[in-house]
Amino acid sequence: MSDTLLAEEPRVAPAGTAPAPDDTLFAQILDPANRANPYPLLARLRERPVARQRDGRYAVSTHAEIRSLLFDPRLSSEDLPPSRRPHTGHVLKDWILNPIKDRVATAHRPLIFRDPPAHDALRHLVMQQFTVRRVRGTHDRVTAVVDALIERCRGRDRVCLVEDLSYPLPVAVICELLGVPEADEPQFQAWATQLSTALEPDARRDEDTRRANVASFDAIADYMKRLIAEKRRRPTDDMLSGLANHADPATPKMGDFDLISTAILLLVAGHETTVNLITNGMLTLLRHPLELERLRRDPERAPRVIEELLRYEPPVHFRTRKALGDIAIAGETIPKGAAVMLVLAAASRDPACFPDPDTFDPDRADNQHFGFGGGLHYCVGAPLARIEVEIALVRLCQRLVRPCLARDPPPYRPGAALRGPASLEITIDGIL
Ligand code: HEM
Repeated sequence: MSDTLLAEEPRVAPAGTAPAPDDTLFAQILDPANRANPYPLLARLRERPVARQRDGRYAVSTHAEIRSLLFDPRLSSEDLPPSRRPHTGHVLKDWILNPIKDRVATAHRPLIFRDPPAHDALRHLVMQQFTVRRVRGTHDRVTAVVDALIERCRGRDRVCLVEDLSYPLPVAVICELLGVPEADEPQFQAWATQLSTALEPDARRDEDTRRANVASFDAIADYMKRLIAEKRRRPTDDMLSGLANHADPATPKMGDFDLISTAILLLVAGHETTVNLITNGMLTLLRHPLELERLRRDPERAPRVIEELLRYEPPVHFRTRKALGDIAIAGETIPKGAAVMLVLAAASRDPACFPDPDTFDPDRADNQHFGFGGGLHYCVGAPLARIEVEIALVRLCQRLVRPCLARDPPPYRPGAALRGPASLEITIDGIL
């Protein structure tokens, strides 16, 4: 563990005074040096459920407070500033096209960045396509993809879980659901990886990341525009065809821009997150070999294991909101306009809610974690993610012979909001 900041000498307060709160804790959590084990920092953050940070942001870290804020209409998800386009090098284009593109991007943000009523209308249309039949129908395809990916590792004594399985699986599944041709999956994987950095708070300040995101966004938007036109000409049984040809007069259909941003959101929100849950899952099971063995022998345990993973090593550590008015909570007042970080991962280890929170225990009762968020923005892909991760973990436990971590902790990707290993090297004695 490389968290040198944790090794600091504790600051001693003069007798009779309370120690000054550390208003740099969130900045320390963002520091990539603390990515492998942020949990001691999250525990310190929970000592003040709502804590103003030195940069003016508020970090909320306890279960009761996050639950109440997730349902509070005074917190807005429309926190993104308008996206400024990079200069094209062409004066006329910069003057005419970029402001128009910016306006379009701002007015047609995906539903994860929208508030009611626009959010609810868009979400309703998406949910109509995420039918039980369609989601359950992925089961055989997910099993086939997982088995084919594991088969490709035959003959090797070492696999990289991220590269060999976690990364290719979710993109294959969402492309099929959306109705993206299989040949275009590698391109989608590259776009999804780039665009997921947009969910990191500091991505907006980093000029190179912002430029790369705008370029990827333009490329994927162009692609989607063509695909949507094709789905209108020749509809097939997939989500994009369903959204593009929506014909229920009771609910207005999405315009093309909302359609494009929704398709991109489904790709991005469902990619990195699922990658991380599969990878964090295998990492945790390899650190708890008894649990791995129990899952191998009894795949019926998978739902319990997955719920506990969502609590114990969640892919989404925090989400950002903006206060629309002053909010008095836990002895603090969050002022109107402040950025609020809902640290879901800290709340999911809150000892007030979870006995022995730092223990991985799939048998724990009443596991009310925030792994899929909560309230209006609760994850629409949760049932799909559960299917993918269950099949991946069970097949890995059953088919890898004597798997062992080659490096612990593994290297992590820089992202703090979407947190997960960059690679996970596992040695094996073969494949069954
Ligand atoms: C293990 C995998 C996943 C995890 C941990 C996860 C986690 C989350 C979380 C925490 C939120 C709440 C965001 C907020 O409150 O601002 C969310 C929202 C969302 N997720 Fe997921 N997700 C996963 C997989 C998926 C998949 C597979 C899809 C789609 C294919 C998906 C689509 C969405 C969408 C569209 C939203 C926004 C919902 C809204 O704003 O109403 N997610 N997810």
